[in-house]
Amino acid sequence: MPRVTCIEPDGHTRTLSVDAGSSVMRAAVAAGVDGIEAQCGGLLACATCHCYVQPPWLDRLPPPSDDENVMLGNVAAERRPNSRLSCQLIVTPALDGLTVQFPERQS
Ligand code: FES
Repeated sequence: MPRVTCIEPDGHTRTLSVDAGSSVMRAAVAAGVDGIEAQCGGLLACATCHCYVQPPWLDRLPPPSDDENVMLGNVAAERRPNSRLSCQLIVTPALDGLTVQFPERQS
């Protein structure tokens, strides 16, 4: 089962075992990770699942869709080059070790 490491806003690190095919958002919410709200439940309608993808993983992910790019314009924390919406990050075995950081605020 792929592992995803989540860095919470206070720097605390949580490593989760995630079913392939699940989104990072679903796994983080289920585990009670701090720093994620995911108000819309993954419908690309809230931008409260914002995360910063840590190197070297950004280049290993499919690029954001046009809709995700639009929603990234609505994030509450600073948008950075490695900003993604975690509901759009689908975990695969190739992403074992993926590390994301959740920002100080989501709304
Ligand atoms: Fe709402 Fe990701 S959970 S956009």
